[in-house]
Amino acid sequence: MRDFDLEFVRSQFPAFSEPSLEGWAFFENAGGSYPARQTISRLTEFYTRMKVQPYAPYPFSAEGGQWMDDAKARMAAWLGVSSKDVHFGPSTTANIYTLASAFRESMREGDAIILSDQNHEANIGAWARMSKTGIEVRWWEADPETGVLDLGDLDRLLDSKVRLVAAPHCSNIVAAENDVAEIASRARAAGAASIIDGVSAAPHGLPNVGELGPDIYLFSAYKVYGPHQGVMVTRGDIASRLANQGHFFNAEFPGKRLTPAGPDHAQEAAMNGVADYFDALDAHHFPGAEPAGKSARVHNLLREQETRLLTPMLDYLRSRNDVRLLGPSDAKIRVPTVAIDCGKPGEEIAAALAEHKIAAWGGDFYSKRLVEKMKADPLRLSFVHYTSPNEIERAIKALDAVI
Ligand SMILES: Cc1ncc(COP(=O)(O)O)c(C=O)c1O
Repeated sequence: MRDFDLEFVRSQFPAFSEPSLEGWAFFENAGGSYPARQTISRLTEFYTRMKVQPYAPYPFSAEGGQWMDDAKARMAAWLGVSSKDVHFGPSTTANIYTLASAFRESMREGDAIILSDQNHEANIGAWARMSKTGIEVRWWEADPETGVLDLGDLDRLLDSKVRLVAAPHCSNIVAAENDVAEIASRARAAGAASIIDGVSAAPHGLPNVGELGPDIYLFSAYKVYGPHQGVMVTRGDIASRLANQGHFFNAEFPGKRLTPAGPDHAQEAAMNGVADYFDALDAHHFPGAEPAGKSARVHNLLREQETRLLTPMLDYLRSRNDVRLLGPSDAKIRVPTVAIDCGKPGEEIAAALAEHKIAAWGGDFYSKRLVEKMKADPLRLSFVHYTSPNEIERAIKALDAVI
């Protein structure tokens, strides 16, 4: 095994050699990461050579269809599931909207759902609307001070009326990793499905969804070095059991029942670029290793690097008694999405940081319920494995100058 090779990693991202971006340290990765060169090249090639209706019997159409099938199979391998479990849709928000329609058709008045208020609105809004049609909504509430969730509270909400639990793998504000395996198994024991928003977790190492065991796991590829679309993983036969949301004549295809928008062919095909990038990370750092363990070892490689990057940032924040860090201060139990309240509007501080060529942002990041409950006005600095120690140092210095 090789030590984490930052130079190699950054060479996979054209943004780092783009003259117009030179000098900028990018800290809005939770909003959207830089795409890997593999993603850009797959998109370009598809648009150049294969941008026709796929799966027809002429070669450049058949090849396009093959790329789309390959993308599902390759992402499935990284996520520890099978190809038929992977669905691509326009975005996580749109995918959840469709899921909510599907679930509602199989529910009756008096059924209940559990929503965590730690969620981004994407995993709340479409579900919460069910209350207008006689579904009881129960709230799994984050602590107003720390923002974290307690599994004991979930236990108290679960009973035989509950049909589903919607929770984040990790909040885009509080950033602590929730125990998805426990959420899934406790929900299942009560007869409820688990719907996990993994958008804020997946960029930090693709999860083994098969092992974690939720019924549905979602994330957004544009935050995972890929094209702008949503990825939805369904487990078991849930895609066949939920009410069909696609065209009636497609009902027999589980892969078409929950994605009525129809595929964006080029973006689906470009998901091969995400798999290419993760494969390149694996081949470079673990030459000759068995393919079977790649998901876990690359996940650990990224998390260890991110913990190294996050530690000095958290040390600095601890040294300031005028700054409130939202979420835990232990780098091992959170991802490097760092939201802080400095007593001034986050957007104002972000504007001041931009003067120092630090690209960050402030606001509620669509986790409005959580941010209001925590009475915060956050600035968010979010980074990933490709961020350099020098950029972290610059962000700390700039923060020190502006707050
Ligand atoms: C945690 C989280 N969940 C869901 C979403 C929504 O994702 P999409 O833009 O794919 O709808 C976001 C987007 O920022 C997010 O940060």
